[in-house]
This record gives sequence, structure tokens and C-alpha cells, in this order.
Amino acid sequence: MNFLVALHSWLRWILLILLLASIVKSLSGFSGKKALSAGDKKLWLFTMISAHTTLLIGLILLFVGKFGIINGTPEGVSVMKDPFYRFYWVEHPVMMIIAIALITVGRGQAKKSISDYAKYKKAFWFFLIALVVILAAIPWPSRPGIGRALIPGM
Ligand code: HEM
Repeated sequence: MNFLVALHSWLRWILLILLLASIVKSLSGFSGKKALSAGDKKLWLFTMISAHTTLLIGLILLFVGKFGIINGTPEGVSVMKDPFYRFYWVEHPVMMIIAIALITVGRGQAKKSISDYAKYKKAFWFFLIALVVILAAIPWPSRPGIGRALIPGM
């Protein structure tokens, strides 16, 4: 299970880098009125795949991880009143699932019958909002009570 937590944490960096690249490329795509390139389609696809993999591991951790639902909360702790369990069982999963849905819809623009300009522009906004949500929902080390390492094991 420690391995899955570390993998989930590393995937955060892969996803952030790919998402950032997708945002920059879609911005330059619509501002430069470019035709949608095969490379950008592939980048969007890989961004979505890394998001879905992070989601899958997240779901495993949420249900059967060290602090998973299967283990319940410690005696007398109620989920919504406890900042730790509220974050890991509710806030983090809900916000991340919303962000991953936005990434999926953003990537889906590539398949629509709309202009390449519109594909780039719509994808840009979906990816940008997803990034903001992800940044807000990551347990950064500075966050009291819930903070985790930037790099697993450090
Ligand atoms: C964009 C998607 C996501 C990112 C970037 C992300 C990032 C992270 C990070 C950085 C940690 C801390 C890991 C550590 O301790 O080193 C974490 C923990 C966790 N995440 Fe996610 N997460 C994402 C999506 C999800 C989803 C969708 C779920 C659940 C459905 C989830 C469930 C969890 C759980 C349960 C933990 C605590 C694991 C434990 O300590 O046992 N995550 N996540």
C-alpha cells in the first residue's frame, strides 16, 4: 500500500507537468490560430491517461488504503467534524474527480466537429480550471494536519 501512496504522489508531478504543457500548447494553438496537431492530440491523451491512472489509485487508497473507508475512523471521530478525514474522504476525492472530469471533457474537444480554433480554446479553459482545482486539492506540505511530502519518502 505504501507503494501505491508513493505512486499516487509521483503521478501528481507527471499529471501537473502534462497538464501545464497542455494548457500552454492550447493557448498557443488558439492565439496563433493553428491547426490541431497530432502531437497536441497525443499530449491531451497522455494528460487524460495520467489523470485516470491517478484516479484509479486514489480510489483504491480511499477504500482499502491505510486511512481507507474499510478501516473506518478511530473511535469517536466523525468524518465531517475531523479535518483529516473530511479532507481525505470528501474534499480531496470530490475536487479531484471534478478536475479529472474537466480534463476528460477538455481532451474530448479534439474529437468534436468544431473548428480547431474552438477545440484549442475550449480545451484551454477546461484544462486551466482543472489545474486550479487540482492545485487547491493537493495536500501540500504547508497544509496543517493534512500536509504530505512533495516527494514520496522525503
Ligand atoms: C488529480 C488527481 C489527484 C492528485 C494530483 C492527488 C494527489 C495526492 C497526493 C499528493 C497525496 C499525498 C500522497 C502522500 O502521502 O505522499 C494524495 C493522497 C491521497 N489521495 Fe489523492 N490525488 C488525486 C486524486 C485522488 C482521487 C480521485 C482520490 C479518491 C477517489 C484520491 C484519494 C487519495 C487518498 C485516500 C489519499 C491518502 C492516501 C493514504 O495516506 O493512505 N486522490 N493524493
